[in-house]
Amino acid sequence: MTLLVEDFPHRRILRLRLNRPDARNALSLELRLALAERFAAADRDENIKAVIIAGSEKVFAAGADIKAIMNLRPTEVEKLGFHRLWQGIADFRKPLIAAVRGFALGGGCELALHADMIVAGRSATFGLPEVKLGIMPGAGGTQRLVRAIGKYRAMRMLMTGEFIKAPLANEWGMISHLVDDTEVEEFAVDLASTLAAGPALALEYIKEMVLNGADLPLSAGLALERKSLYVLFDTADQKEGMRAFTEARKAEFG
Ligand code: CAA
Repeated sequence: MTLLVEDFPHRRILRLRLNRPDARNALSLELRLALAERFAAADRDENIKAVIIAGSEKVFAAGADIKAIMNLRPTEVEKLGFHRLWQGIADFRKPLIAAVRGFALGGGCELALHADMIVAGRSATFGLPEVKLGIMPGAGGTQRLVRAIGKYRAMRMLMTGEFIKAPLANEWGMISHLVDDTEVEEFAVDLASTLAAGPALALEYIKEMVLNGADLPLSAGLALERKSLYVLFDTADQKEGMRAFTEARKAEFG
């Protein structure tokens, strides 16, 4: 099994663990298909409110499976349809947390960049070394990274292939939480559990607005944000959240 699925039913979260130790969790077609399938299922499953994507202690993921693609022609690469498999992760509507220990390189770094929050251990290492292979990132490395850390830091990583340690990635705003290596997994589970107990539609709209709003003119983004807020007044979670505030108790969302 290249992808281990760990269920936490009481917390309503799911952890997907990349599991190709002999290939440093390189993203084979089989693994990519499994990820796409699991994200589609988790998106539909009402009992899952948040997902964690994790690797092993030494490596989150070493990127594309270089051995599997090294001799392909352009049309063969295109035919693999990797972009459609990535899309299922990009379109995932619920909170997604990457729990990164060890190396997150190339497509592995891009996988982490699909997450809404990245929890990284102090010795985690991020990099987009595609340039050293004579290619470039193809799953958002030149797009999501520049939005996260800005042009010059992104150019530094993309053009040199330099590996960046988690403390610097944290300074740059590339991750959301920097914790001790031994705390990554538990921290991610606690964070996912907190999100899973939150107001689901509000979280979905926040995610949608942050991700899609960035591509809109400010006035259009602000208008869509307002409309999304109005819709949330039609939810039981809004009634409960505000009632709980006035009653000075913790809200119990559905
Ligand atoms: N693809 C295929 N096999 C890989 C791999 C990868 N991305 N990364 C590691 N492996 C394999 C190695 O070939 C090796 O296999 P053998 O035992 O059969 O020789 C095994 O995993 C162990 O690898 P190392 O000995 O290198 O392990 P390490 O612990 O010393 O180093 C590492 C770990 C730093 C992650 C190193 O393996 C590495 O740099 N990997 C490649 C990283 C990389 O360049 N990623 C970008 C890929 S391209 C991409 O992602 C963009 C795209 O979409 C096209």
